[in-house]
Amino acid sequence: MSGLLAGRGLDRDGAVLIAQGLADGGVSDAQAAAFAMAVMFKGLDGPGRTALTLAMRGSGEVLRWDLPGPVVDKHSTGGVGDVVSLILAPVLAACGVYVPMISGRGLGHTGGTLDKLESIPGYRVDLEEAEFRRIVRDVGCAIVAASGKLAPADRRLYAIRDEAACVASIDLITASILSKKLAAGLDALVLDVKSGSGAFIGEEDQAEALAQSLVSTANAAGGRTSALITDMDQPLARAAGNGLEVREAIACLRGEPSALREVTLALSAEALRLAGQDDVARRAANALDSGDAAEIFARMVAGQGGPVDLIDNVSTYLPDAPVIRPIPAPEGFVAETDVAALGHAVIGLGGGRIRAGQAIDHRVGLSDLRRLAEPVEGLLGMVHARTEEDADAAIAAVQSAFRIADTPPTLRPPIRNYIAPTKIEAHIPAASTGGSDIE
Ligand code: URA
Repeated sequence: MSGLLAGRGLDRDGAVLIAQGLADGGVSDAQAAAFAMAVMFKGLDGPGRTALTLAMRGSGEVLRWDLPGPVVDKHSTGGVGDVVSLILAPVLAACGVYVPMISGRGLGHTGGTLDKLESIPGYRVDLEEAEFRRIVRDVGCAIVAASGKLAPADRRLYAIRDEAACVASIDLITASILSKKLAAGLDALVLDVKSGSGAFIGEEDQAEALAQSLVSTANAAGGRTSALITDMDQPLARAAGNGLEVREAIACLRGEPSALREVTLALSAEALRLAGQDDVARRAANALDSGDAAEIFARMVAGQGGPVDLIDNVSTYLPDAPVIRPIPAPEGFVAETDVAALGHAVIGLGGGRIRAGQAIDHRVGLSDLRRLAEPVEGLLGMVHARTEEDADAAIAAVQSAFRIADTPPTLRPPIRNYIAPTKIEAHIPAASTGGSDIE
């Protein structure tokens, strides 16, 4: 670590020493916190970031696939109403690529794909590796939780970063996200970096810096990767809350037009382009419109333990919350939405966690949310709650999260920017000294 603090950067041997020590306990919590802080304040250069990413990826198992098509995935930096993964994975599978998607749980005000899928009765996210491989091969996609074997260095460093207030470092975020994704043995990865009031990193320039860092590091580490920077100034779906978002994903899989469809198709087309396909926009849209993606989603759900007839019996399997009430509003147009506040309202209803491991109620949340520039017509949306008291609190929170104006605002495009794959040769200097970089 002295090398880092002295401005000599992080070399490959130093990165391996840290990552292996995180995984096997050879690095103490204090040393790991000091390392995270040194990275946070000194920053890493491109080769240092790549070295850390590769070393963390190599701290555990790295999956290898032997499939008759490319292996591709998407990663989103997270938002509210972001249920893209449930649609994109089957769209890509319908287009002949394989998607072994390893997803996470809700973090802060943002929802998690695994929590959404667990709204479906019987759906198992913890599969044995052989079962995961079988479903990916037979169906084309599976969405599962990370096994403890993938990038164990990240799991430990992430917990330490959280305690040491070192979460918001672009270098550490880059290595954290990519070490896990690249351990899944991907040929290509498309990144959805969110920007706006509901994003993990809200400022546009910071979102762009994160996207550039992720794209250049992933390409240098050997995975063909690009990024779209997409809008999180409003929830992507009209619903926020686990089962409610699954319902909306199923509506999209059945061909319903929406902003969710538009962003999902843009990300799907980009993933197909990275996988070497042509005519990607048409192919992705056709996967939805033909019903092929819906059929693959149904097979994936059944393969992972859910009901075989989910798509045709949504209200049976995704039951309503006990209390459903409208959220009244004054007349006007939606001028601004505090998306993080909407995410916190869902947590307040019991649909998200304040502490890791908390149980969540998959029925609760918000639906029919008005989108930016839409006339309110007296209603901001619907609240789905366990009790009248919970509903009262959520209604007040949602009312404060919307700003209503007499005229509609100028809308910004849902897709803000595109960061193309970079051709960067990995140049990771070997250690300048044979000694330990941790002191
Ligand atoms: N998601 C991750 O996996 N890691 C981070 O550091 C931040 C978001």
